[in-house]
Parts: sequence; C-alpha cells; structure tokens
Amino acid sequence: MPGPGQTSLVDARLGELSVAEYDQAEQEAMVQTPNRAIMAFQPVVFHQYGYPARVRMGAELFKYIDVMHDLRFEEDFHQLLGGLTREEFDLLQRLTTLICRFSEARFGRKALARSSVLRHLYVLRHIRYLSGGRPLRVLEIGPGCGYLGAMLMLEGYSYAAMDVTQAFYLYQNWFWNFISDGQVTELARDSGLAPREMTAPQPGGILHVPWWEFVRSALRSGAPFDLVVCNHALCEMHRDSLAFILKSARRLLDAQDGRPKAFVLEGWGARYISLSEATKSFYRAGFTMVHNDGGIIVFAPTGTSWATNGLRLPHHTPLKRRYVRGVRRLLRRGINVVRRAMWESPLPDMSYEPCEYRASGNPFSRAIHEGRSAERGTKTVGLEQVNRFYTELLGSENHLNPDERFLTELRP
Ligand SMILES: C[S@@+](CC[C@H](N)C(=O)[O-])C[C@H]1O[C@@H](n2cnc3c(N)ncnc32)[C@H](O)[C@@H]1O
Repeated sequence: MPGPGQTSLVDARLGELSVAEYDQAEQEAMVQTPNRAIMAFQPVVFHQYGYPARVRMGAELFKYIDVMHDLRFEEDFHQLLGGLTREEFDLLQRLTTLICRFSEARFGRKALARSSVLRHLYVLRHIRYLSGGRPLRVLEIGPGCGYLGAMLMLEGYSYAAMDVTQAFYLYQNWFWNFISDGQVTELARDSGLAPREMTAPQPGGILHVPWWEFVRSALRSGAPFDLVVCNHALCEMHRDSLAFILKSARRLLDAQDGRPKAFVLEGWGARYISLSEATKSFYRAGFTMVHNDGGIIVFAPTGTSWATNGLRLPHHTPLKRRYVRGVRRLLRRGINVVRRAMWESPLPDMSYEPCEYRASGNPFSRAIHEGRSAERGTKTVGLEQVNRFYTELLGSENHLNPDERFLTELRP
C-alpha cells in the first residue's frame, strides 16, 4: 500500500493520469489554443481567492476527497434533502464505501466524503424526476469531486464531464478509474491536434474531456446529450467560457429524438458574474427558464415542447414594472455613489434576479412537483442512521474532513 508521502501514486493498470501527463498535455494544447480561449477557461474564482487549483504531487489529491460544501452536512441533510429514502441511503453507502476504499488504496488512510455526496444525491433525485425513470445521456460541466458522475455511472447513465481545474480533473480521473476498474475514456491522454467527437459513452461509461478538447470539439460536435448539468460553477466562470458552454450545450441538446432535453443546476456558484448576466446568457444562447425554486433550476431549449410555459425575461414585463425597476436602479446607484464616497461597501446589484418559478403546464416543472409529492413520506432514513454508518466505516466518531476541522478551530 502506498504511503501518503509517496509522489508517484499513479496506478497505470487503471489508466490513471499522472500529474506530469496532464501538465504536458495541457502545455502542448496551449501552443495551439488562442490566448482568449486560454483566458476564458481558467478557474477564475479559485485564482481570485487563492484556492489551490493545481497539485504537483499525486499525494496532494487526498485533500480533494470532500470539498466545496464544508460544514453544511447536517443542515443540508434536514433542510435540503429532508432525510433519505432507502434507495438513496443504499446508494450513499455504496458510494461512500468506494470513496473510503479509494482513499485507503491510493493515499494509505481512510476518509469520508459527506457534504459533497449529499448535495449530489439531491441533484440525482431531481435528475430521476426529470428523466422519468430512464437513464439519460448526461454532460456535466465542472464536476468538482466527481460524485454525481460516480452515482450516474453506478445507476447506468451515460456520463461525460469537462473541468478546467487541474487538481479536480486529476482527482476525477483517479476516482472514476478506481470505481470503474479503468473504464474511463480519457481525452486528456493522446488528444493529438485533431478535434475529437464528444460522443456520449455507453450506459455506465464515463467520457472525460479536458477544457482544451472541449474548446476544440464542443461547438463542432453533433453528438447528442439529454441533460447538461452544472452545479455551483456558472457564476464562477469567465463570461466567455459561460457563453461558449451555453452555446455548446444548446447544440448538444438539439437532437429531436423524443428524449428530454434540459440544462439543470443546483446552485449558481460564487458571484464572479451576476445572476442577472448568467440568466440573460442562457436566453441569448436559446434557453428558457422553466423551473426555479431556489434549490433546482431548469432551463429548456427555447422553441421546443420542453420549454412550454417557460418564464419570460423581465424585458417582457409590463412597462409600469420596468419603469419602477428603472427608478429603483437609479436610486440604488445614487446610494452606492454616496456609500463609496463614505468608504462603505456598495449595495449589491439587485437590478434583476430571476424569480422563483414553477409551472404546472411545463413538463419538467410538473415532473419535479409530481416526483416530490410521490416521495413524500418515503424519506425514512434519518441522520442518526447515516452517522452510525459513517462511524462503522471510518472506525471513528469524528467525521469532519481536514478543511472542516481547520474551520471549526477558527470558531470563537
Ligand atoms: C465550486 S466548484 C463546484 C463543484 C461541483 N459541481 C459541486 O457542486 O460540488 C466549481 C467547479 O467548476 C469548475 N469550473 C470553474 N470554471 C469552469 C469553467 N469555465 N468550465 C468548466 N468548469 C469550471 C471548477 O474546477 C470546479 O470543479
């Protein structure tokens, strides 16, 4: 078993990418990639906050096992998920056991992923509602730890993913190869110079696409997908990559094959760009918002039956409301000028935020409503049962990950 200090942890038998392989492939691709595209496909928010976006040793990937949703586990369990169904608990146990085994095998110590698994269970719950029970072809943008992909793979969906952050990309590659026994189709390896077709893999398969391959291929690809998913990332992007991703997604969801077509998100991410701008970018790319309850947001391709009874952008709202909004915006600007002059932080830009929206006349919004109603009363697995499972698996009652331990130490 490799020790945590060892740098060369790559399991070549599984086709894992080494740090050096990824870096070299990216470097070679950058020779051919326009500077504007390189700038667009940077993890801009991670750079802004100094979050470690690259690793130099494989052993560092241990730190990416459970990130992004620190200290939210209990609250999410009750507020967001409202408990788990038996089926969800089975999947949580299966996936968490795989994560723990992965951590032991690759880094020499056990670890759990609680919050990130839980959040993605919530997304999976909604993907099931939207898919009406049949495994769809899903493309995920910015998968982070990759646990949604892992669940979709275990559930027999066809799954592809693109990410821009070297550390997350390597973590995804290692973990997905570990759980699929090396079945990941990895486009960061031997990507060459010619664009590759981004074909959805066989059910239960994973296609892994680095950002430079996405830039080369996504707009040219005729390969159909059914769902594009992007959680906690859209507002964290450079606006040019957002525009590129939405345009590509519209194209990849264009097939008229009778299968559902939607862009789904569970959160917008840190506000590097505003909600207003991100929403407008969707409409500009040919999407209509059809459901937004603060937890799950769904856009459908405009002009298709999936977009029936969708929400119109505010410029379609009556003149009087637009006038009132305009006056409010001017007032807010005026107050901000004064506040800035007094060294106070400006008020947030509230000029437009997409409202909550549910429509019984829209197939997706209705499916979410019906799915939730059908599951009422079936979430019989409580927090104690889940915590008992973690304690047995980990052999410890302290379930916090290293980031959470650090953050709790900061508390007064
Ligand atoms: C805050 S994390 C969220 C991760 C995961 N989706 C989740 O909900 O836990 C943002 C993710 O988006 C990725 N990302 C940031 N900018 C991106 C871009 N332009 N294209 C694709 N992925 C991007 C990051 O590398 C990271 O995986």
